[in-house]
Amino acid sequence: MSDPVPQPPAITPSPRRCPGMRGRPRTTCIVGSPLSAAGGVAVTGIDLSQPITPTLREMILNAFLDYHVVVFPNQVLSREQQYRFIASLGKVEPHGGRNARAKRYAVAHVISNLDGNGRPVDRSSSPVSNYRWHTDKAYNAVPPMLTALYAVELPPQGGDTEFANTQMGYAALSEVTKQRIAGLRVVFRWAGSRHAPGIPPLSQTGPEARPPVDHPLVRTHPVTGKKALYLGNHASHILGMPPDEGTALLEELLEHTTKPQFVYAHHWRVGDLLIWDNRCLLHRAVANYEVSRYRRILHRNVVRGTVPF
Ligand SMILES: [Fe+2]
Repeated sequence: MSDPVPQPPAITPSPRRCPGMRGRPRTTCIVGSPLSAAGGVAVTGIDLSQPITPTLREMILNAFLDYHVVVFPNQVLSREQQYRFIASLGKVEPHGGRNARAKRYAVAHVISNLDGNGRPVDRSSSPVSNYRWHTDKAYNAVPPMLTALYAVELPPQGGDTEFANTQMGYAALSEVTKQRIAGLRVVFRWAGSRHAPGIPPLSQTGPEARPPVDHPLVRTHPVTGKKALYLGNHASHILGMPPDEGTALLEELLEHTTKPQFVYAHHWRVGDLLIWDNRCLLHRAVANYEVSRYRRILHRNVVRGTVPF
């Protein structure tokens, strides 16, 4: 599948100062050193509850392109303030979940391990859970470019989110494999993993009834031009390929691009706001805590992207 694993790119610790916010002293905000070879950078000294300047916005988007995951620690954000910041980066998409009509839910919807009675519940073994590697809403014809997640309540330890860099995964493939997968298209379905035992049958009328879509297995980043693998938990099969062969190829590529050298694991702290680039990353929640005992609550937005090519 792959050539000998390449060495990760050299990381140059180079904290950079960035412009101050409107009405505040300059040089209050610092872009830190990379958090891992696979991506991630922290931007500190910035209060996202306040409007940001165009210059600061540009700096944030550059960090987003360079490091794929941007961490803003120590934020105190209402859902409306979170929405305002994320909306300054792009068009926030409405969420289609169960509570989508609730106004506050639409502003920033809740991701949690709670059941309908507010009790923690362990869904980590479910084949449709976010504990599996995925990229958000790949089952949409126009998947989101960016996801934002803000930590509201966390377990005492653990509850990480892991990110796998699919640009690095693609770059490390052998030329033979790159030629083999060039031009292939993956079919994504919301119900892509629902053929597993124990999963109830689908509604024929709800959002789960949406038609499948297909996207390139190797997608090109619309801004940087870099190629990345596009696959994950909602990937159903490969167009024109026997199902077993397509499934085996997808599993092989997924195993490859989620090797530790391509992964950044974020250890959350309350007040962290993360933004990440769905066009070159897979992610998953990690059940490295007592999931059925401790609450884990985060607020999420997604920003509209473009049709993958
Ligand atoms: Fe997700």
